[in-house]
Amino acid sequence: MSPLSAARAALRVYAVGAALIVAQLLRRCVRGFVEPVFSPQPERVAIVTGGTDGIGYSTAKYLAKLGMHVIIAGNNDSKAQEVVRRIKEDTLNDQVEFLYCDLASMRSIREFVQTFKMKKLPLHVLVNNVPTTQRTQPTPRASWPWCCSPTICRRC
Ligand SMILES: NC(=O)c1ccc[n+]([C@@H]2O[C@H](COP(=O)([O-])OP(=O)(O)OC[C@H]3O[C@@H](n4cnc5c(N)ncnc54)[C@H](OP(=O)(O)O)[C@@H]3O)[C@@H](O)[C@H]2O)c1
Repeated sequence: MSPLSAARAALRVYAVGAALIVAQLLRRCVRGFVEPVFSPQPERVAIVTGGTDGIGYSTAKYLAKLGMHVIIAGNNDSKAQEVVRRIKEDTLNDQVEFLYCDLASMRSIREFVQTFKMKKLPLHVLVNNVPTTQRTQPTPRASWPWCCSPTICRRC
């Protein structure tokens, strides 16, 4: 393929992408943003990792609003308790709970899985939301008794 025809092909791809974006924007402007409507999901169980903040929090709250049993997996107990209280209050769904899980520690993940299994609940939705590159050092609780150094652990 000559450089000219390669450039032409690339331009064509960009043109189609740009046309799609413009079409979507126009559709939004004309009709407004229509939120997808999901039917209520009682009896369903969801785990949302990192459900104490950002996208995870919004996801956990939305799933709770649909009536799901939502388990927030995270590594910040105190923050999580407040988040669980708020979601329960806002969604009127009592089946929202927090289970400790530090995604930077395999040991913590295994413990989380054991705790979840002991609940004898099915799992319908798993939202793997926690970024894997954000924190590489496990928290002291997950690493105890091996880690207690403030120089390597951001939670000490
Ligand atoms: N925001 C964006 O524009 C964007 C764009 C593209 C992709 N994403 C992806 O979407 C995901 C969520 O992004 P976000 O902006 O909502 O992130 P965020 O606001 O920083 O929230 C991250 C959540 O993960 C928790 N977390 C962090 N490290 C953890 C660990 N080791 N164990 C357990 N929980 C941990 C945090 O807990 P604490 O709050 O208690 O620390 C928090 O609840 C990420 O994977 C990100 O890469 C985001």
